[in-house]
Amino acid sequence: MARRKQIYEGKAKILYEGPEPGTVIQYFKDDATAFNNQKHAVLEGKGVLNNRISEFVMVALERICIPTHFIKRLNMREQLIYHVEIIPLEVVVRNVAAGSICKRLGLKEGDPLPRPVIEFYYKKDELGDPLVTEDQITAFNWANPQEIDDMVAYTLRINDFLSGMFAGVGIQLIDFKVEFGRQYDGDLMRIILADEISPDSCRLWDIATGEILDKDRFRKDLGGLTDAYTEVARRLGILRNQEETSDTKGPVLVSSNDVNKD
Ligand code: TMP
Ligand code: ASP
Repeated sequence: MARRKQIYEGKAKILYEGPEPGTVIQYFKDDATAFNNQKHAVLEGKGVLNNRISEFVMVALERICIPTHFIKRLNMREQLIYHVEIIPLEVVVRNVAAGSICKRLGLKEGDPLPRPVIEFYYKKDELGDPLVTEDQITAFNWANPQEIDDMVAYTLRINDFLSGMFAGVGIQLIDFKVEFGRQYDGDLMRIILADEISPDSCRLWDIATGEILDKDRFRKDLGGLTDAYTEVARRLGILRNQEETSDTKGPVLVSSNDVNKD
């Protein structure tokens, strides 16, 4: 079989040319990085879990009419996605103070915010992805005002939906990061959700115990990252408990068809 052409390799994913024009294959690696690559580890199974969790979230968002790049999952580590021109911004929304906003504004970790707060970061590894203003975004032409409005509206809807979805399984959505891309169809262009939504890009705290179930386990050297991601997947119904399967040990990935039927 001919080797596929690699388009891009990031810290946690690789993109390959897809089978049809306008499609791309997104491969989830086991690599975990933090603090702009200063910290790195390979955590076995992380890519498989993020592939499944991100699929689950993207499919759920499509159902509420958020356009996404997701087409279908191909296997344990890969999904077929639409090709987009990535807007070079990370859009973060925060419900509770945690992470960089605590340092920047002197807030206490865990303090609820008065309302969801949106921030934009310019995607530029050499600069450590700096926080930027809307005026800088339009002045430097990273996105136009209409695109900013679309990204804010989608991000707030995603926040409401995911906050409810996670609350339903006993998890509080503290904050998360999303990325958007431009999809071209002839003269038409639309903004769609791209990249991934997984415990790598969210802060997720167990409501009952406060336990951290996201990439902060790696950032803060708490250990147990894949166990935490497995727990998130299990609660969302992506994994079956040992008791629910007759002849296997440990959690078992269920097919997305099974999940979609529920
Ligand atoms: P922060 O508190 O470090 O700014 O992170 C805010 C949210 O964005 C948090 O859920 C983690 C996520 N995030 C990423 O997905 N990628 C990144 O590079 C950074 C810095 C944060
Ligand atoms: N993703 C970023 C990095 O690799 C930072 C982070 O998630 O904390 O360095």
